[in-house]
Amino acid sequence: MHSIAGEDYFITPAAEKRITELASRYQNEPEQLMNILLDIQKETANSFPRSVAALVSRVTGIPEAKLYGFVSFYSMFSTKPRGRYVVRMCHSAPCHVCGAQGVMEAISKTLGIKPGETTRDGRFTLEYCQCLGVCENAPAIMVNETVYRNLTPGRAATLMEDYQRGDMKEC
Ligand code: FES
Repeated sequence: MHSIAGEDYFITPAAEKRITELASRYQNEPEQLMNILLDIQKETANSFPRSVAALVSRVTGIPEAKLYGFVSFYSMFSTKPRGRYVVRMCHSAPCHVCGAQGVMEAISKTLGIKPGETTRDGRFTLEYCQCLGVCENAPAIMVNETVYRNLTPGRAATLMEDYQRGDMKEC
């Protein structure tokens, strides 16, 4: 849908139309800004580059710098291109003491990338994140918007293989 130029995107006419539709919701639902921006991010390869911030700014009237500062602040947004599947490993203490490191190593080995990297085919990005709110079922990861709990290295590797084969429903 988008081509990448340096660290930003050229927005296709179809994507521009879709982003404009989503951003237009802000006029009637300003309290939904976070969800609106998350929906927009899904349209732009799981990232929120400057060109998109500029377009959303024009539609919503929110100053571009303020918008870009907003998406730069929250970890669920990325200003750099990411994969179709963003795999986020909880890095907070309860998950850490329950074996998060081993789970991360299994995921990293299965996908062939380190935290902060994206697979060459653009399918997977691997990241650390803070508490996912399911500490009682640690360790946990999130793939796009789906949380997986009580992981072991073996379960995590199998899960990644399922995604690689395309067996998992797209989020
Ligand atoms: S610490 Fe990992 S889910 Fe809370």
